[in-house]
Amino acid sequence: MALTNIRGLYPHLKQDGVYFNHAAMGPMNILTQKAIDVYVKGRTIQPIDPFAQYLEWSNLLKENLSEMLNCTPDRLAWTDCVGNAMNMVAQGLEWNKDDHIILNDLEFPSNVYPFLNLEKQRVKVEIVSTENGVVSIEKIEAAITPKTKLISISHVQFLTGYRMDLVRLGEICKKHGIIFCVDVIQSSGVVPIDVEKMNIDFLAGGSHKWLMALIGLGYFYISEELQSKINQKYVGWTSVNDMWNLLDYNIEFREGADRFQNGGHSFIGVVALSASLQILMQIGIEKIEESILSNTDYLINSLSELGYNSILKYLPEENRAGIVSIKLDNAEKLSEALSKINVTVAVRQGILRMSPHYYNTKEDIDEFIARLKSVL
Ligand SMILES: Cc1ncc(COP(=O)(O)O)c(C=O)c1O
Repeated sequence: MALTNIRGLYPHLKQDGVYFNHAAMGPMNILTQKAIDVYVKGRTIQPIDPFAQYLEWSNLLKENLSEMLNCTPDRLAWTDCVGNAMNMVAQGLEWNKDDHIILNDLEFPSNVYPFLNLEKQRVKVEIVSTENGVVSIEKIEAAITPKTKLISISHVQFLTGYRMDLVRLGEICKKHGIIFCVDVIQSSGVVPIDVEKMNIDFLAGGSHKWLMALIGLGYFYISEELQSKINQKYVGWTSVNDMWNLLDYNIEFREGADRFQNGGHSFIGVVALSASLQILMQIGIEKIEESILSNTDYLINSLSELGYNSILKYLPEENRAGIVSIKLDNAEKLSEALSKINVTVAVRQGILRMSPHYYNTKEDIDEFIARLKSVL
């Protein structure tokens, strides 16, 4: 599909605005909107309750998602949010006093609180400090002790946009027998993810950012080996093999990761993500990455010409993805001024964050820079 045709799928582009906030919430395209409309109509008029069909759609979507992550569909489960996926691992593993977990000081709280919550079980959570927005693999490696049981990290940092070399970190985890957990909400739909190549034991993401579907449907991948170590704390009617034998009360868990789906999940979320993912997969994640990295580079250079140094300015492509951030004294004020002229960016921790997607162009970036200049 040509980029011009793709841009036609996004109605927000026809309005007078610049939307560079995919790291918070991705706009939907018209095909996703239509799929949702059809779903809502079906729920309103007929057929109202095609439950078996919904499950088929869910399974089909898992097949597509598994292609994107290089796993088998049975290793995927639906969740509502990243935080709950991380909680499932944190609460499901057996912890001994002084077991050690490594995080870093740039992680989004969904990837921190579930592990910090284990401190009351006398687990030690070490938060490695970062420098200039960069999470150093060397520092993480140096923090490893014989007690280190788990490392959790974002593929792409929400605040600075730093992209971690997961292949290298995965190798380190494998070498030390450490459980490797990854938050991919800022990288799926942006750059390739390969759970095999990256030796990932567990990853979690959501659908409303770069995958441009609805909030409320998240997913996780769990390796067979990690699943075998989890003592499943929460169970529901869809966790078991013979789920339609409703009065059998036999907790015989499903083999796959869907055992962690304890009841009905967001089918409207499935419908939306199916439509959205179809487009992304038609384009291909490598092409998407290429376009995003080219936008990121152009935006970094354009900001630099204005005298603003992005946090990722001196880093190579491998450590960049879709987020470009600048540290400013007046980020809040600037963002407010930009919003008055229909430019949407985000401010997090006093940092101005811009996140254009693959369908954005150099012209969009030039327009953004022109509007930014007008409010400076
Ligand atoms: C890195 C990262 N993880 C997780 C989330 C969201 O967490 P949850 O799905 O638990 O709401 C965000 C942003 O909202 C994020 O930037």
